[in-house]
Amino acid sequence: MKLTKIALGLTAAAAIFMAGCAEKTYTEESLGLRKTDLYSENTTTGDETKYATAAAGTSQYINRAFENAPPMIPHSVDGMLPITISNNACLGCHEPAVAKSLNATAIPTSHLTDYRPNTGIGQNGKITKDGAAVDNTSDKLVSSKKLNQVSGARFNCSQCHAPQSQGALVVENEFEADFRKDGHSRASNLVDNINEGVNTLK
Ligand code: HEC
Ligand code: HEC
Repeated sequence: MKLTKIALGLTAAAAIFMAGCAEKTYTEESLGLRKTDLYSENTTTGDETKYATAAAGTSQYINRAFENAPPMIPHSVDGMLPITISNNACLGCHEPAVAKSLNATAIPTSHLTDYRPNTGIGQNGKITKDGAAVDNTSDKLVSSKKLNQVSGARFNCSQCHAPQSQGALVVENEFEADFRKDGHSRASNLVDNINEGVNTLK
């Protein structure tokens, strides 16, 4: 007898629950993150890109995204881009000789190093890397030559360093970087560990 009552009660509860569910409908517009008509993009606009407007020398540093990540540019780059072969405004303030006096972070030693082995073809037709003949181009993986100017591979700063737009994020990035050394959310040491995990015996 008791069991029948419980069963009846449960059936009634389920019926009420299902009736409640049946009333809930979702419009197509509510499905996506954009909350706009999925069939027409005419009135859909993305978030406005808002780069920092603070002039160099007055901006706030942005913490590195992960160990040895290229730091974001915290200041306005108005009038500094594009970088051309005859005009690199970035170097004017970030070259080690001047950076300190301007309170700007100096370009690191990695940018003053040539990591590319000098590749050529020897007289016997064999490939040479830094003057030595090799059987395969992968036989010499590591090369590191100090330069007294910024490496050509690092000349185009904006290829790796970008400003950060301040927009409202629909999906927050919850990534939290683990830095192996204190202070590395604000500085880099790539030169010290660039060969980590590389077999340099080759
Ligand atoms: C007029 C001098 C000046 C110029 C030109 C300049 N910067 Fe800067 N930069 C600074 C200063 C000063 C800072 C430190 C933050 C501040 O005080 O605004 C800085 C900070 C930075 C940082 C952050 C460094 C860190 O440690 O987090 C990066 C990256 C950067 N600049 C890249 C660039 C790039 C790329 C260009 C060229 C498009 C450039 N800067 C042009 C002066 C300059
Ligand atoms: C090929 C990518 C690349 C290019 C091009 C490049 N950088 Fe970097 N930059 C990095 C990376 C990666 C780091 C962090 C690791 C390291 O120290 O090398 C960095 C670090 C820096 C730092 C922080 C140094 C420190 O001690 O914390 C500054 C300042 C900087 N770069 C400025 C520049 C400027 C100015 C240029 C153009 C002349 C430039 N970079 C070109 C990738 C690049």
